[in-house]
Amino acid sequence: MKQRESPLLQRISAQVKAGRARFHVPAHGGGAGLPPELRRALWRYAALDLTELPGLDDLHNPRGAIARAEQLAAELYGADGSFFLTGGASAGVLAMLLAALEPGQQVLVPRNAHGSVYHGLVLSGAAPCYLPVTQYGFVPLNVTAAQVRKGLDQNPKVRAVLLTSPGYHGVCAPLAEIAAVTRERGVLLLLDEAHGAHLPFHSSLPEHPGELADLRVQSWHKTLGALTPGAVLHRYGTRVCPERLRQALQWVQTSSPPYPLLLSLDAARRQMALNGSRRLGRVLARACRLRRALAGYLPLLERAQVKAQGFDLDITRLTVLTGEAGLSGAAAASALRAAGIDVEMAAPDHVLLVLGLGAGRRETAQVLRALRRLPLTGQIAAGAIPPPPLPLPVISPREAAFLPARRVTLEQSVGQVAAAPVTAFPPGIPVLAPGELVTEEVCRYLHTASRHGVSWRGFDSRGRLLVCEGVNKQCPGKDCS
Ligand SMILES: Cc1ncc(COP(=O)(O)O)c(C=O)c1O
Repeated sequence: MKQRESPLLQRISAQVKAGRARFHVPAHGGGAGLPPELRRALWRYAALDLTELPGLDDLHNPRGAIARAEQLAAELYGADGSFFLTGGASAGVLAMLLAALEPGQQVLVPRNAHGSVYHGLVLSGAAPCYLPVTQYGFVPLNVTAAQVRKGLDQNPKVRAVLLTSPGYHGVCAPLAEIAAVTRERGVLLLLDEAHGAHLPFHSSLPEHPGELADLRVQSWHKTLGALTPGAVLHRYGTRVCPERLRQALQWVQTSSPPYPLLLSLDAARRQMALNGSRRLGRVLARACRLRRALAGYLPLLERAQVKAQGFDLDITRLTVLTGEAGLSGAAAASALRAAGIDVEMAAPDHVLLVLGLGAGRRETAQVLRALRRLPLTGQIAAGAIPPPPLPLPVISPREAAFLPARRVTLEQSVGQVAAAPVTAFPPGIPVLAPGELVTEEVCRYLHTASRHGVSWRGFDSRGRLLVCEGVNKQCPGKDCS
């Protein structure tokens, strides 16, 4: 069976075993040049940290072991071409936008999109038409086919739809239905599937008709066994020019790809092909047991609830709705932290726990005990206001990014146009995109969410954000809501 192959492991092991003298970069020479305090921890990693030597292939022009490893990844995901990414799904999202769209071409972007999408809009000059996303409190759900259809009706010049599915909380859009709409309209479907590389490997996970997309980006470090920030971009068909895609990948990625990372991508592919279903079956069984054991103690975002709204849920993402039981997400996260547990994120009304391939029985029992002991009041946690309606886009993200800008306080920013995104990390979804008008509601929301422990990128150390100078706010751009 082809998927048993490990082309990169084979080549790299042979290179290391040969014990050759290293008169090339990286300068640590396989470990001896590492700072002494790191030598023990990184010794084995450093031995694999090689460069484009004969036989080790070239990520940007693959012909040998890397080409073979990428081909095996493509076969596993039914793609016509796959590309290993050394800059995370973020790099894949940038390349996807740069390859698929020309400056000024319109793209439909639901507002559960990750920050990298907005960076891609600045770099590519593509013009976004934003779609609001259904929210459950502070949890962004997703978009339905009807919403996408409406967005396309209102913006007939749109060239591509860029979906984020699953979202950070594991909520999946109805991709097959949406793909039927994009096909019927002849527009490209670009898929940010950063949180969904594992979906094809178990029938209890949401459907993943990702092959209906033109391009699909996956963070393998988020849901498979790859090292951070290993990711993969898959191409289906040739509606996005393969040559242009390869070029775009060079524009956004390092010319010195880390071989240990590439190796981990190849090994993660092999692991999923040979054992993915069994490994995920264990994780899913743990997720089910945890959910059952918490019933009656804590409200969770449940699959049935999400399905009722037309979406699906990856149940290995456990969104604990602490706010409904009288505890803010920040307070819940800090109680869990005191019990030795770190969560993926805390929002004003929930915490998100990720059960990954590494989640063992002991850790699951530990988290269950700690969740049952959370100091709940049984009343809805007060004070957190849900995200504001979509701010009005005035100019494109690219225009906003290149205009002269100045820093102002949040209060002074009301009525001004944001020059840079203001984004909660995690989950990395901007509340304000570059080019959007700052409103009173946005200002109030940012203040309240900060009080509830949300941390933002986009403010300086004095709490000021960047706004554009010299924008005529009387000529707003298009909004698809
Ligand atoms: C939806 C989504 N897309 C893309 C990314 C970027 O992924 P990476 O960290 O692999 O660059 C993230 C990261 O959190 C994300 O949540």
